[in-house]
Amino acid sequence: MKKSIVIFGSTGNLTYKKLLPAIDNLIRQKRLKKDDRVYLLARHDISLKQYIEDAKKQVKEMLDWTVLEEVLEFVYFHLNQIEDYQKLNHRLKDSGYTDNVFYLALPPKLFPEVAKGISASGLVTKGDASKRIVFEKPFGENLESARTINRELWRYFDESQIYRIDHYLGKEMIQNILVVRFANRIFGQTWNHNTIRNIVIIAKETEGVMSRGNYYDKIGALKDMLQSHLLQMAALIGMTRPKTFQSEDIKDAKVKVLNDLKLDSSSVVFGQYNGYLDENKIADDSQTETFIFAKAHFMNDKWRGTPIYFITGKKLDEKRSEIIINFKDDTNLNQIFSNAKPNNTKLVFKVAPEDGVKFQLNVKQPGLSDEIISGHLDYCHTCNWVGNTTEAYEKLLFDVLNNNKTLFTRWDEIEVMWEIISEIQHMNIPLHVYDDFDHLKEIILTEKGVDIDAL
Ligand code: BG6
Repeated sequence: MKKSIVIFGSTGNLTYKKLLPAIDNLIRQKRLKKDDRVYLLARHDISLKQYIEDAKKQVKEMLDWTVLEEVLEFVYFHLNQIEDYQKLNHRLKDSGYTDNVFYLALPPKLFPEVAKGISASGLVTKGDASKRIVFEKPFGENLESARTINRELWRYFDESQIYRIDHYLGKEMIQNILVVRFANRIFGQTWNHNTIRNIVIIAKETEGVMSRGNYYDKIGALKDMLQSHLLQMAALIGMTRPKTFQSEDIKDAKVKVLNDLKLDSSSVVFGQYNGYLDENKIADDSQTETFIFAKAHFMNDKWRGTPIYFITGKKLDEKRSEIIINFKDDTNLNQIFSNAKPNNTKLVFKVAPEDGVKFQLNVKQPGLSDEIISGHLDYCHTCNWVGNTTEAYEKLLFDVLNNNKTLFTRWDEIEVMWEIISEIQHMNIPLHVYDDFDHLKEIILTEKGVDIDAL
């Protein structure tokens, strides 16, 4: 059956930077065929040729535009005009496209209006599994707006047709967390507060807000990163073994542990990079945070006393996303080996820019010396793999096309993630203007008293 992807918001950053490269790769891998279609909707009256010329200036990757041109169609479209939805419906039907994905690469406040148009025009009928609808994050701007949006969506669509994106879930090493944890018995036995000293979840970026000032200034790091990507990573690390490894059971286990997660509001550090106020489309007196540090705990027996540290921000010293599991030392370590390095055993899930798993441990220095040093077992996920590894959006689009919901967030996950941050959202947290990450580290260490080695 011929498939189509309809993208609302095709002149946005996300389409240029993520969706077009993902579509290009899917075509190269023959996961999208030449008679499949990608409809690009936007309220500019331009030709496909012109669209492609504009896109070429935005897309960083080398795409095969000649092949892409065969599957792309540009549609002049107004989100608030029902006739445009109806015309689109006729166009899809007349061209024989009945297996359709509608991708809303739009701000969340537009979700209800577009969902209504899609439903009222008959583009999607509630319960019809051949029609799926994809929503980008953030899903809402706070708990209340997320609930309102979701209520609206459930009027028009069945939950089985709704795909809520968190692109971190499509990343190779995030998919790998459950495999490493549950396919290796060694971790099954040790994955709790008895053995684990703390968990550090980091997503540092070197870029600033770039052309996304308009979006970012209303959202900030707390809602842009922590509420979604970082909490999803925490859920995968903290959850207990699901009943099965089927989509719904994994989601149940995530929701359960997220319900136990409490942020310590007194630990929170907000920062804003120096120069943020001069960026495009940022309010002159903006108090939006571009950095957040927060400490949290899972309030359950498995994790009692083991803190989780979240760190994310823009314009920092490096682009690095990883999860560090810091293990406790043997209680008698220094009696056994007086020169052993304390706090030296850790497992690191390297999410980006490299993908892999690193295990750091105490080992004897080679040679005549009795010194103890750090050794590393370093697995590179992509280095020795001959074949295709996928980018997150490619995997997620592929899964939507194939009705696979495992890597998408269910409503109750979104709801509990908003609940977790809602207390902080309403607090007046001081904002530190920073020049670099060292500046923020100093604040975390001195003002918040957090052991810097954990960072
Ligand atoms: C997006 C955020 O969800 O994730 C961006 O909106 C952020 O602000 C991006 O830059 C980071 O994703 P990645 O895959 O580059 O780590």
